[in-house]
Amino acid sequence: MFKAILFDVYGTLLDVHSIQIVLEKHFPGKGIEASKLLRDKQIEYTRLYALRPSGIPYENFMSLTRSAVEYTIMTFGKNNQNIPVADIMSSYQKLTTFPEVVQILDYIKSKNYKIAVLSNGDSEMLREVLGNSGLQDKFDTSLSAASVNSFKIDSQVYKLASDFFACKPEECLLVSANYWDIIGAGWNGIKTFWVNRMGSPKDPLGYEPNFEGKSLEELQQVL
Ligand code: LAC
Repeated sequence: MFKAILFDVYGTLLDVHSIQIVLEKHFPGKGIEASKLLRDKQIEYTRLYALRPSGIPYENFMSLTRSAVEYTIMTFGKNNQNIPVADIMSSYQKLTTFPEVVQILDYIKSKNYKIAVLSNGDSEMLREVLGNSGLQDKFDTSLSAASVNSFKIDSQVYKLASDFFACKPEECLLVSANYWDIIGAGWNGIKTFWVNRMGSPKDPLGYEPNFEGKSLEELQQVL
């Protein structure tokens, strides 16, 4: 049915909020709040850069994540100059993998589907974070928004998949826990599987994902 199964990385394969353990050490009692702010700022910055006017140079996901870490330190660290951005960035390259990921990727591979990462992450960041989680060999390719100097939900990013696999958008299935990514993919003709781990409501914007599950395990019923 599908020519390729595309995976979002941050929040879908890897738990972005596992960084709260490191943030908790620097900001006692505020770890999860700091983690949420970091993620919100990171995504906000990608949207700013995706919409930037010509003449404003591209900043990749690593750089924007660093800026989001800096903002988080400014918010929760008050005037503490000693909080090491580099340590937090290094921990961001070691995010926890959700427990069902390896088994599901192996299952999909056993069914002979092509599997790709489709992420805002730049290739260096993806190589390192997927390497640290032992997932680097699970994918046929890694498609990065940086190759078109933009970020999701820019159409150019989703087009990377149908171009690479020489297929129609609707022959690809994007798996993402980020509902805005599901909407972006869906608006661009890609079929969607929303991983709704938290039982969140859907944003009431008129788009409905093709499939939904509480974890990646429910992909097995679809594929
Ligand atoms: C990704 C982030 C944004 O594209 O979730 O992997």
